[in-house]
Amino acid sequence: MALVSTKKMFEMASKNGYAVGAFNVNNMEITQGIIAAIAEEKAPLILQVSRGARAYASNSYLKAIINVAVEENPDIPIAINLDHGDTFETCKQFVDDGFTSVMIDASKQPFDENIEVTKQVVEYAHARGVVVEAELGQLGGIEEDVVGVEDVSKHIADPDQAVEFVERSGCDSLAVACGTSHGAYKFKSEPKLAFDVIAEIGDRLPGYPLVMHGSSSVLREFVDLINKYGGDMPNAMGVPEKSVSRAAKMAICKVNIDTDLRLALTAKIRQVFAEKPGEFDPRKYLGPGREAIKEMVKHKLQVLGCAGKASECM
Ligand code: G3H
Ligand code: 13P
Ligand code: ZN
Repeated sequence: MALVSTKKMFEMASKNGYAVGAFNVNNMEITQGIIAAIAEEKAPLILQVSRGARAYASNSYLKAIINVAVEENPDIPIAINLDHGDTFETCKQFVDDGFTSVMIDASKQPFDENIEVTKQVVEYAHARGVVVEAELGQLGGIEEDVVGVEDVSKHIADPDQAVEFVERSGCDSLAVACGTSHGAYKFKSEPKLAFDVIAEIGDRLPGYPLVMHGSSSVLREFVDLINKYGGDMPNAMGVPEKSVSRAAKMAICKVNIDTDLRLALTAKIRQVFAEKPGEFDPRKYLGPGREAIKEMVKHKLQVLGCAGKASECM
């Protein structure tokens, strides 16, 4: 099976109350770790590439790695998504390069301008069989290529605007700011998500797929390993897994995870370096890192409820 769009995955996720994991990839080991988990758990999969990932690894390397994953797993539906496309031109490039889904993130722009650019991407992508994710409201946190707002609680998506946005732009899925942030420092005090907003948008757009960015749980076991072996990540905090599960049972059909992959890989590499200071063969630390990603992703698929759902999404 070739790469697929997210259409069928979202239809089934919405109908059956689960979410599909969208994992960011930057290199071979990260991709292999995710794929190994997916193959064992028989889950649908969205692999996503940010502009930063593409700048780091180049589109041809990333696409070649992903193509091998697709060829080797013909019974698993795999979509490939541009994460946080910033302009029409960026999205156009990724559509032209064979991505099956693109995200246009014009959430920093005023409402009408966000709709305008999203509409433009939708027209171009739909004419080529590609689906479009857009974003409303703003997330916090800072990644290499994605800069968020300081106080997420002031930028939660507005349900009236969400309904109007979907109707006017024609986007296929909508990322709604609901209190999450990118990165490893999501909350200063108790984690709080706007479940009321997710519920209201879900009620007013029945069956429509919503997306939750910034969904890493910043798993304690990895933060502790990092800190134990020379790292410095005080006050790291993510979205509790029970909140992720709750959102996945609601209208959230796609859950974005990058930070948890980074933490798993870094924790393992730090552990190997600390325990075997003489080790200099990259396979001996990237291998355990890849294995840690696999086990972490297998666990995530249970949290999202999408394990075992690959065949219904074909
Ligand atoms: O949304 C942000 C993702 O974690 C991608 O981050 O721009 O550092 O690749 P990046
Ligand atoms: P995390 O930083 O929580 O993994 O979020 C990733 C993300 O939203 C990518 O778009
Ligand atoms: Zn994001």
